[in-house]
Amino acid sequence: MNTEPSALAMVPFVSVDHMMNLVHHIGLEQFLGDLTDRIERDFKRWSLFDKTPRVASHSKEGVIELMPTSDGEVYGFKYVNGHPKNTKAGRQTVTAFGLLADVDNGYPVLLSEMTILTALRTAAASAMAARHLAPKGAKTMAMIGNGAQSEFQSLAMKNVVGITSVRLFDIVAAATEKFARNLAGFGLDIEKCTSPEAAIEGAEIITTCTADKQYATILTDNMVGSGVHINAIGGDCPGKTELHRDILLRSDIFVEYPPQTRIEGEIQQLDADHPVTELWQVLCAQKTGRTGSAQITLFDSVGFAIEDFSALCYVRDKIAGSEFYQELDMLADPDDPRDLFGMVLRSSS
Ligand SMILES: NC(=O)c1ccc[n+]([C@@H]2O[C@H](COP(=O)([O-])OP(=O)(O)OC[C@H]3O[C@@H](n4cnc5c(N)ncnc54)[C@H](O)[C@@H]3O)[C@@H](O)[C@H]2O)c1
Repeated sequence: MNTEPSALAMVPFVSVDHMMNLVHHIGLEQFLGDLTDRIERDFKRWSLFDKTPRVASHSKEGVIELMPTSDGEVYGFKYVNGHPKNTKAGRQTVTAFGLLADVDNGYPVLLSEMTILTALRTAAASAMAARHLAPKGAKTMAMIGNGAQSEFQSLAMKNVVGITSVRLFDIVAAATEKFARNLAGFGLDIEKCTSPEAAIEGAEIITTCTADKQYATILTDNMVGSGVHINAIGGDCPGKTELHRDILLRSDIFVEYPPQTRIEGEIQQLDADHPVTELWQVLCAQKTGRTGSAQITLFDSVGFAIEDFSALCYVRDKIAGSEFYQELDMLADPDDPRDLFGMVLRSSS
């Protein structure tokens, strides 16, 4: 008897290897630029999406989260963890995978690795925000925290915003060395600094991308001059922040989805009604972004489901008809849809 899975049983699966090959095929900077535009396009149709704060399961060492959304035609979710101590044991702080499904029949249409894709989409979302909020013509970015996300962040800012130099700081010198090694030859001037104060000297954009499960103070108020754009990536969980509260009080704060950011972002340090601007409203010209050269703009990034949805849809479109995926026998498909039991019985013969 034929035990080969049918076409309906199969779901395209993008492995880590496929993803890396796809990134090289498209080109890293092109991928980041495309993804920035794709996320912006979806943020501009904000009202169409189902939105909910992500579902988080917290533990002493970290968090595991599910991030669902749908635009009414396609449903998507991401599984992602955040465990800052993982690197000490040779594991990554953040890993992820995700899925897209057809809303009309509920069948999955894509399963994909998302550890690499999360780094790309987080960088793209940061670049999207900076494109609208950073001082015009910004050339220099301070990159504080030189871990897994950092090169992606810098390259997206180069490609989308046009920065030409990055000033690095990490408490672990080897992380900074790794960054400098990896991005040599990408056309960015790279300055390794020995303190966060030195790193932010002359920078129009300050990106904080550290990992620590505590109320950390990566930047204090006196370190931040007027007119800068702060791209705060690492504060993304209750009890896990990077900026001193006083910086928030001097900044105009832009967020993805307030109900989630108020729980997880830097603004968890502020009153629940502290004014913030939703980024999608700036993109749709409903609210203003940067209004003056002295203004401090802050993108309080926590990562929102629509960004992952955009990234998965981009990958789905790019792999069509390519060698960058394999078919996975993932859905039981009995000859008679009501005879799932019979399918199991017959499989033993
Ligand atoms: N906002 C988002 O959408 C989003 C997406 C992905 C990851 N993140 C968060 O970004 C952060 C970085 O992620 P990653 O994968 O790069 O982690 P990582 O562990 O690979 O890198 C973090 C780096 O920060 C450094 N660091 C820790 N404390 C520091 C300090 N006080 N000053 C300077 N450097 C310090 C570490 O030495 C390490 O090199 C994590 O907190 C993660 O949860 C946010």
